[in-house]
Amino acid sequence: MAIKTVGVLGCGLMGAGVAQVSAAAGFRTIVLEVNEDVLKKGLGRIEKFLTDGVAKGKVTEEVKATTLGNLSGTTTYADLKDCDLVIEAIVENVDVKKQAYAQVESVVGPACLIASNTSSLCVTELAASTKRPDKFGGLHFFNPVPLMKLVEVIKALSTSQETFDALFGFAQAIGKEPITAPDRGGFIVNRLLVPYLLDAIRCLEEGLGTVEDIDKGMKLGCGYPMGPFTLLDFVGLDTTYFIANILFDEFRETRFAPPPLLKRMVLAGYLGKKSGRGFYKY
Ligand code: CAA
Ligand code: NAD
Repeated sequence: MAIKTVGVLGCGLMGAGVAQVSAAAGFRTIVLEVNEDVLKKGLGRIEKFLTDGVAKGKVTEEVKATTLGNLSGTTTYADLKDCDLVIEAIVENVDVKKQAYAQVESVVGPACLIASNTSSLCVTELAASTKRPDKFGGLHFFNPVPLMKLVEVIKALSTSQETFDALFGFAQAIGKEPITAPDRGGFIVNRLLVPYLLDAIRCLEEGLGTVEDIDKGMKLGCGYPMGPFTLLDFVGLDTTYFIANILFDEFRETRFAPPPLLKRMVLAGYLGKKSGRGFYKY
């Protein structure tokens, strides 16, 4: 089936990026948020990224205009009624996601595909909560979406081959490099990345080094673009905490268990870059 109109649920860190790359690739894109304030903030971040891109000579004025021209925001599910694909990028909580799919299904047509950008939840469970488990799959993007080339495409037990192919094709159409990932907690990348990030927090708790020295060590010693604490702040400590709990629940292995410090930072509202404070202050 031809995808022309794309809905994106959530205009946070990930939803804004997904909406931007979809609109930039020529898809009419409608991004939905919980209220006008959050929506305005999210759309503002997209505009800023494009404006910065123009200033850096990485984005042309034409691409900026096309992207913004293809993009609109809403707080009303009814505006998603013509979508051929809805990509969900809201909070990493299974019940909130299921409620959102029910709202989507109350307005879209029977052929509309739904994909989740979940980092760690069971895609088969999410699919089974809808009336179209065969038209549901995972499209896992990476942060920052406009710069990271990878998308993991996840086939739930119920996902039809036609849906999987359409999602894979969509990832290619927006200029990404898709890989096939299994419906197992964390898929491929987070299965490896999340224990590393959690271990960095455990090292800090044990007094192995300072935040700055551990970051510097991994950056300069291993050539990683960001040290683990910069990356944790970038991903969001709340999101990392949700992911860790979900992976621990799936595998019951201590390497996935959220360290006590992570839990306390989230409870204190230190969510990383997005809240102005995490392991660093912004
Ligand atoms: N518009 C267009 N291009 C832009 C841009 C903009 N607004 N801003 C930056 N760029 C371009 C730059 O021009 C540069 O391009 P070249 O390499 O061609 O010169 C490139 O993007 C990198 O930008 P910068 O040099 O400004 O920044 P950087 O070198 O510090 O890199 C980064 C930034 C790409 C984010 C890098 O630090 C990085 O890769 N960090 C790791 C990110 C990561 O690991 N993400 C995954 C998180 S986990 C996840 O997402 C999964 C999950 O479920 C939690
Ligand atoms: P975020 O907190 O930055 O944004 C989530 C947004 O969803 C918020 O703006 C919130 O207002 C909105 N929202 C919440 N409930 C909603 C609803 N019912 N309808 C519409 N909007 C709603 O979170 P994020 O980092 O963008 O994460 C979103 C999803 O993407 C999660 O499933 C996360 O696991 C996944 N993910 C995150 C990253 C990352 O690096 N942060 C990377 C890949 C995947």
